[in-house]
Amino acid sequence: MTESNFIPKPYKKSLENGRFTWSSPSNIALVKYWGKKEDQIPENPSISFTLNNCKTTTTLSFTEKENNNEFSFDVFLDGEKKEDFKPKIETFFKRIENYLPFLRHFYFKIETSNTFPHSSGIASSASGMSALALCLMSLEKSLSDTQLSNTYFNQKASFLARLGSGSACRSIEGDLIVWGTHHEIDGSSNLFGIKYPYQVHQNFNNYQDTILLVDKGEKQVSSTVGHNLMHNHPYAKRRFEQAHDNLSQLISIFKSGDLDAFIKIVESEALTLHAMMMTSMPYFILMKPNTLEIINKIWAYRANTNSKICFTLDAGANVHILYPENEKETVLDFIKTKLAHHCQNEHFITDQIGFGANQI
Ligand code: DP6
Repeated sequence: MTESNFIPKPYKKSLENGRFTWSSPSNIALVKYWGKKEDQIPENPSISFTLNNCKTTTTLSFTEKENNNEFSFDVFLDGEKKEDFKPKIETFFKRIENYLPFLRHFYFKIETSNTFPHSSGIASSASGMSALALCLMSLEKSLSDTQLSNTYFNQKASFLARLGSGSACRSIEGDLIVWGTHHEIDGSSNLFGIKYPYQVHQNFNNYQDTILLVDKGEKQVSSTVGHNLMHNHPYAKRRFEQAHDNLSQLISIFKSGDLDAFIKIVESEALTLHAMMMTSMPYFILMKPNTLEIINKIWAYRANTNSKICFTLDAGANVHILYPENEKETVLDFIKTKLAHHCQNEHFITDQIGFGANQI
């Protein structure tokens, strides 16, 4: 597949107005995407668990307009008009226009809401951009006279979502998604996410993710700035190779269900992501004292029990705690009694692996 596969034939049908609604999840990377080239091409492959409860629901209403000069749209979050969301969507529209030539023909009303609080520090770009990409794909489907297969629909939705936010391309389907070319993973692509195609041991069924909200503030480093830090980074080359190696190791770990080996890869990936930020120019520390408190308590708990609990981080201070379903009760008890007070307002969100987006 190349980019040209996603350029549609001229549409035969026309529509005056209508609306589509999609609900799309967030995801948490196990092997991290950190560093990209032109056109949202990742420097290394990544793999993520799709989440189940942390979702964005977006309704796209469209009305045909008189002239096709410019993009015309408004964005609402929980019913409130959001002027500050517009530049990101304008950039998104510019990037995808070639693949959705109808974008200038309509006025769009984009109404969005999240199941998680907007100010929680949980990135909504993956769920938000994937939900919008899916709504746009529904519109393309209605304009096309040929049937779009499900596979094509999802692939192009992921392709478009990637152009909105890289990690969003891993939020279309579930439950384990690979994005970025990897020599051992058939069908893997830099252009879109694919479902992990090999055997996954039952130890990973309904894997749990509790997100500890250590810092609900605005992101200290935007993802664009963050990814750019990998240009001319002294350790970049080795880091990108390491991501390939870690994904190779995960293939056998997913097959065998070896959770000790899983923990090593996942925690090392999280710390490497932060190490990249600490060793870039300019440099950043995105962990907070409470992030470290939580990590140390997780390590102590693991040493004192037989637990397979582990942590991962995204580009911020919040901690994702990953654990097998059969430890749900004990780990939640541990979180409530020993970790919650390290979170802002003792706030945490419990989630688990999910199966992707759905149309409403
Ligand atoms: C640390 O997908 O937010 O969460 O492509 O610039 O929108 P853009 O970046 P984004 O980066 C996410 C980085 C990460 C790791 C990951 O999800 O793989």
